[in-house]
Amino acid sequence: MKLAITYNVKKETELEESLEKVNKRNTEAKKYLDENIIEKYSERIDDTFAEWDSFDTIIAIKNAFEKNGYEVSLIEADEFAFENLRMIKPDIVFNVAEGKGGVSRESQIPAILEMLEIPYTGSDPISIGICHDKSRCKEILSYYNIPNSKFFISENENFNHSLEYPLFVKPLHEGSSKGIYNSSVVHNPDELKKEIKRIKECYDQPSLVEEFLDGKEFTVALLGNGDDLKVLPIVEINLNEVPTGFNKIYSYEVKWFFDTRENKLDIFTCPAEIDKGLYNKIEETCKNAFNVLRLKDWARMDVRLDKNGTPNIIEINPLPGILPDPEDNSCFPKAAREAGMNYDECLNEVVNSAKKRYAIK
Ligand SMILES: Nc1ncnc2c1ncn2[C@@H]1O[C@H](COP(=O)(O)OP(=O)(O)OP(=O)(O)O)[C@@H](O)[C@H]1O
Ligand SMILES: [Mg+2]
Repeated sequence: MKLAITYNVKKETELEESLEKVNKRNTEAKKYLDENIIEKYSERIDDTFAEWDSFDTIIAIKNAFEKNGYEVSLIEADEFAFENLRMIKPDIVFNVAEGKGGVSRESQIPAILEMLEIPYTGSDPISIGICHDKSRCKEILSYYNIPNSKFFISENENFNHSLEYPLFVKPLHEGSSKGIYNSSVVHNPDELKKEIKRIKECYDQPSLVEEFLDGKEFTVALLGNGDDLKVLPIVEINLNEVPTGFNKIYSYEVKWFFDTRENKLDIFTCPAEIDKGLYNKIEETCKNAFNVLRLKDWARMDVRLDKNGTPNIIEINPLPGILPDPEDNSCFPKAAREAGMNYDECLNEVVNSAKKRYAIK
């Protein structure tokens, strides 16, 4: 059976450039951390390459499917993708493409695949697009009474709101904690204006401004569909590992600078060590969110408790990160391992879920 992987990958020159930048930033991060200079820290960071996959990840995915007997082709999600897919006509596509340009970029490949009538893994263009606009996603969750923090969106200083400080400010359309720094937690209108301005300038998009959820944080991997939908073991994010003086959030600094291979933070506990009642409640909330957003095959959701201890959905990733090396602390493969599935089995399970939906033998 022919399987194609659709993806976006860092080009070698960009990768080299980014490695050079990463090394430089690591040195700066250490200096800032050592000297405990939290002010202005975030202005020092460039996150241009954060969302892209490395070629190592694509090769690990390819190996997982080849070992299982598929004839695998690699199709980069660029402007030639349509023609390549039309020529190769795979029996199924494993889609991990972030897409190229625009707020609906993650919908591009699923839309092409629908036009070409090629079966593919994961959610359809509309659901992927909705999740990539965090406010649209929250509107749907709210309609179905699935808890998420109160919010408004703004791209300038003309806001008028009744939310309670502290507030949390983030770009409307990004992932991988892009734009989410220590300064994203704001306590007054001046700080809020500064963050909205920063996001507009750096990312050319509106800010999503939310009430701050100050409880425990979790990330939850889901696999399957309908009656077969499984919640994998819940991962708790140990925010007490965040260095002293920094806000307790899983920010860009924490994800990419403070938790490195050389200097690992003990940031995850899987399965989360919480009481059964809360565990079940998180599972139920995430399953409901998966179903009302009509997601397919897999997703990873971030969840945080509000001041009443109720799990709120922070955001939903219909294309979860899947770094192959356990050292890289990627949460979807981590939860799968805890459920007894290795990397290859986990990816093949996503394809099996899609095949079942399309009734492919
Ligand atoms: N309303 C909120 N209240 C408290 N903390 C929040 C809130 N929204 C986001 N955070 C913190 O910021 C982190 C990053 O936010 P979010 O998950 O929305 O960003 P992302 O870039 O889409 O993440 P990912 O890397 O999972 O794609 C969360 O993991 C959480 O620690
Ligand atoms: Mg997140």
